[in-house]
Amino acid sequence: MTTTTKLHPKTIEIVKSTAPVLETHGEQITKRFYELMFSNHPELLNIFNHANQKQGRQQRALAAAVYAAARYIDQLDAILPVVRQIGHKHRSLGIKPEQYPIVGKHLLLAIKDVLGDAATDEVITAWAEAYEAIASVFIQVEKELYDEAAAKHGGWRDFRRFVVVKKVKESGVITSFYLEPEDGKAISDYLPGQYVSVKLSIPGETYTHIRQYSLSDAPGKGYYRISVKREAATADKPAGIVSNYLHDHAQEGDVLELSAPAGDFTLDLSKATPVVFISGGVGITPLLSMAHTLAIRQPTRPATFLHAALNGRVHAFDEELRMLAERPSFSYRICYESPSDEDRRHPHFDKEGRIDLAWMQSVIPTKDADFYFCGPVPFMKTVYRALKQWGVPEEHIHYEFFGPAGDLTKD
Ligand SMILES: Cc1cc2nc3c(=O)[nH]c(=O)nc-3n(C[C@H](O)[C@H](O)[C@H](O)COP(=O)(O)OP(=O)(O)OC[C@H]3O[C@@H](n4cnc5c(N)ncnc54)[C@H](O)[C@@H]3O)c2cc1C
Ligand code: HEM
Repeated sequence: MTTTTKLHPKTIEIVKSTAPVLETHGEQITKRFYELMFSNHPELLNIFNHANQKQGRQQRALAAAVYAAARYIDQLDAILPVVRQIGHKHRSLGIKPEQYPIVGKHLLLAIKDVLGDAATDEVITAWAEAYEAIASVFIQVEKELYDEAAAKHGGWRDFRRFVVVKKVKESGVITSFYLEPEDGKAISDYLPGQYVSVKLSIPGETYTHIRQYSLSDAPGKGYYRISVKREAATADKPAGIVSNYLHDHAQEGDVLELSAPAGDFTLDLSKATPVVFISGGVGITPLLSMAHTLAIRQPTRPATFLHAALNGRVHAFDEELRMLAERPSFSYRICYESPSDEDRRHPHFDKEGRIDLAWMQSVIPTKDADFYFCGPVPFMKTVYRALKQWGVPEEHIHYEFFGPAGDLTKD
């Protein structure tokens, strides 16, 4: 699609000149925005992740998107790739066009609240017009994504009921769920690396909870497999709601509601370049799907899979990867941060400690490859910086965040 913005030049000027002011107050404005919006529309708590709210992660993600859009208000085409990425997430959450004015109204109220007298009528009117222009780009992109998802063979638009047909423990902390549609009909294929949203009504909880889970097997098997890490409680954090519910209560025969597969972190099967997968912990899931797909679709394409885990107890999918590594074109290396005594008795890991550039260079045959990585944010920062230091060009670096997208260049 292309976007045409018919905003008045004066509006554009006001929006561009006030964007830096909003940027300075960004988190304050978005924090206020959520307070106002949830108090007027508590039903939206059914779709927003409460933990992200509490930790301010979503605030930062939304704020960053609004400034980016404002900076490009006279050339919104430039933000289309970002809008598409967010649009995938919105589509998987079931966000609707009629919800955009609600967000717009409360964003403007928050701007007024935080900026006070500096938010003149002229400024507010300009931002109202700008928001409408930005929202219409999102709505259009998302309409295309909904239509695409529904038009696919076996596809659907919103949420669909799936039965847990098998539950398999993959490690001390990761469990897989094999899911088949309750209606017994076909399910759409997906691109390796894509995720589904799972919507749960948990007994005793006021609101529904939606979380994303990457599909961890190759497409085309008649089921979807998700693999979930239990986010256990620690001294300073409560237990994760959905992951613990799935581990403790979702049993074979139970029904989960799923969105159609979404996401733009996908393996490019049109390329023949060597490919390197680097995963940390449960970040293995989208990369494992890619590795399985590679085995079927491009079995001779050279691939290296590096996996970092704390130790053998929490190391999932070792057997699946060892089987994939029986192909001469596929190598698999393991890094344990702190191997247990048991790990040391039967050493089956290649490196001890954390992943670093020196080790990567010793096990990755060439930097002229496409790199795909996923894991905890600190791990992703290490990998990203190592790849940059090695001189891997940005267009060969691909990654996924298991939460709102962040910035890997910042500490
Ligand atoms: C694209 C994508 C793909 C993903 N794929 C996978 C996957 O394949 N496998 C997988 O396991 N996960 C995956 N995730 C992550 C998953 O969506 C969930 O975020 C994860 O399961 C945690 O959900 P939860 O409900 O258990 O925890 P939540 O209840 O959402 O809590 C999240 C974290 O915040 C902490 N927390 C909650 N409240 C507070 C508070 N007040 N103060 C401080 N900390 C707090 C919790 O302790 C927990 O660690 C993916 C995410 C994305 C975006
Ligand atoms: C132009 C307006 C909007 C912008 C710029 C915007 C921006 C964003 C961004 C940047 C993210 C994080 C994406 C990621 O990296 O994961 C996000 C997520 C999300 N958005 Fe929007 N959004 C807009 C409108 C809406 C609307 C109308 C709704 C519905 C009321 C909505 C609901 C959500 C939800 C529920 C999430 C996931 C949040 C979470 O789970 O923490 N957004 N949005």
